[in-house]
Amino acid sequence: MKTTLITTAPALIETECLAVVALDHGEKDNNQPSVSPNDEILNKAASELFASGEAKGKMFEAVTLHRPAGLKAKRLLVIGGGKAKNFSSYESRKMAGTAVRFLKPKGIKSFAFVAPDMASGMADSVRSVVEGALVGDFDPDTYKSDRKDLSMQEMTVVAPASGDQKALQAALEQARIIGESQNFTRELVNEPGNRMTPTMLADRAKKMCEEVKSPHLKCEVLDGAKIRELKMGAFWSVSQGSDEPPALIVMTYTPPGAPAQPVLGLVGKGITFDSGGISIKPSDGMEKMKYDMAGGAAMIGAMRALALLQPKVKVIGIVCASENMPSGKAQKPGDVQIAMSGKSIEIINTDAEGRLVLADGLFYARQLGCTHLIDAATLTGACVVALGMINAGVFANDDAMYDRFRRALDRSGEKMWRLPLDPEYQEMIKSGIADIVNSGGRWGGAVTAAMFLKEFVDETPWIHLDIAGVAWMEENKSWIAKGPSGIAVRSLVEFVRGFAENGVPASSGRR
Ligand code: BES
Ligand code: MN
Ligand code: ZN
Repeated sequence: MKTTLITTAPALIETECLAVVALDHGEKDNNQPSVSPNDEILNKAASELFASGEAKGKMFEAVTLHRPAGLKAKRLLVIGGGKAKNFSSYESRKMAGTAVRFLKPKGIKSFAFVAPDMASGMADSVRSVVEGALVGDFDPDTYKSDRKDLSMQEMTVVAPASGDQKALQAALEQARIIGESQNFTRELVNEPGNRMTPTMLADRAKKMCEEVKSPHLKCEVLDGAKIRELKMGAFWSVSQGSDEPPALIVMTYTPPGAPAQPVLGLVGKGITFDSGGISIKPSDGMEKMKYDMAGGAAMIGAMRALALLQPKVKVIGIVCASENMPSGKAQKPGDVQIAMSGKSIEIINTDAEGRLVLADGLFYARQLGCTHLIDAATLTGACVVALGMINAGVFANDDAMYDRFRRALDRSGEKMWRLPLDPEYQEMIKSGIADIVNSGGRWGGAVTAAMFLKEFVDETPWIHLDIAGVAWMEENKSWIAKGPSGIAVRSLVEFVRGFAENGVPASSGRR
C-alpha cells in the first residue's frame, strides 16, 4: 500500500472514497456526532446521517454516503470513533484499519483518510492512521487457490496545511516502515510448520537483512553443530528430537555514531512447531502451535524496522529457532541438561521448551556484549489464563527498564500488563537432582516460567514479554484480520528508539 500525505481541503479531494472519523461529543452537541477535525463542509455533507441517528459516532460504526453534497469525492465513509474525550492514537489506528477492511471487499483500491484531531498532535495522528491502515490491509489467506488480491493500493492521508509539513511527512514515513515490518512478522508467523522450518526462518531473516540494503545490518546463522560446540545444552535438548536442524539466528545492527553502550539484546522464541515433545500435547488445537515462533518473528520484524529507521543505538537480534518433536532421539522427562551458563536443568516436562531455548539465547546475548535484554515468547498457557487475549504479560527485573518499556507501550498502543517476579517464586523451580526444574507446575505458571529465564539473565536489566495469548487473533475484528497479530514489533521498535533519544537511565529498584 502506497501512502502519501496531502494538505488539500477535504472537500476538494478527488477520490474513490473520503474516509472521516466522527466523534461523539455527548450532550454538548445534542448527542449528534461531528467530524474530526471539525470541518464545516464535511459536517454538512454528513448532517442527515447525524440528524437521523444513522451515524452516532459509535466506535467502529461505518456508514457510506454516495455522491456526498459539496464534496469532490465519490463516496464519504463516516467511521465512528467513540467518545471525543477518550479519543487518542490508540483508537485512530483502529479507525484507519476499519476503513481499509470496510473498503477492501468492495474492490476499492485507493482512498483518502482525514487524520483526526487528537491531544497528542497531528504528527501522532498521521502516524497512527498509517500504522493502522497497514495493519488492516493484511489478510492471511495465502494458500487459498481462489485468492483474490483485495489489498489496498493507495491511501492518501489528509492533514491540515497549518501543520509542520516536514514533521508530518517524517511521521508518515516512519509509520510506514513500522507498519510494514509488523506485517512482515505476520507473514512469517502465518506460515505453517512445514513451510517455516528453522532453516527457512533463518533464510527469511537473511533475505530480509539483504533486502533492507543497510550496510549496518548483518545476519549470521549458527547451525546445530555450532549450537553444540557452544555448549548450549538447553537449546540443543529441544532440537535433538527433531529431524529438522535448529538455527540460531543472530542479526547485528551497528549504526555509525552509536555509543559503545548500551547494546540492546532482542531475544525471540522461534519454535516453528511445538508438539510438546515426549510430553506431547493433546491433538485438539495442536495445529495452532505453528505460531510458537511469533516471538522470534517479532524480533526479525523489529530488526527490519530498526535498520530502516536508523536510530543510533546498537542492537543484536537473536532468534532461537527449533522444532519441538517426539522421537527416539527426543529428550525425556527426568533428563538433566547443562545450559551454556553451566546451570543444570531437570526436565520435568518437555513441553516447557521455550524457556530452554531462551535460557541459552539470553545467556549468549550477554556473551555477545548486550547490556540490556528484552525477550518475547509465546511462553505459557498460564499467561493466557491470567490475562486472556487482550494483554500480553510483561516481566521486568529492573524498574527503570520497565518505565522505559511502559513509555514504548504508550507510543505503540500495544496492551501489556506487568506481572511479578518476587524471589519467593524461586522455591517453585527448585530441583532435587539439579539446580532448577523446567516446570514449576500449574500455579503461577507464567511467573515461574519468567523466574526460570531470570536465572540466565542474572543482573542484566531485562524485560520478558509473554505473548502466548495475543500473538494470534482468534476472530476477525473490524480493524484486523483473524490470524497472526504481529504483536510486540511496534513496542520493541519504540523501546529501542527511546534508548537512542534519551540515553541510558541509571538502573534502579531491582525485583
Ligand atoms: N508454546 C507453549 C505455550 C502456548 C500455549 C503458546 C498456548 C500459545 C498458546 C509452551 O511451549 C508450552 O507448551 N507451555 C506449557 C508449559 C508447561 C508444560 C509448564 C504450558 O503453558 O502448558
Ligand atoms: Mn511447549
Ligand atoms: Zn512452545
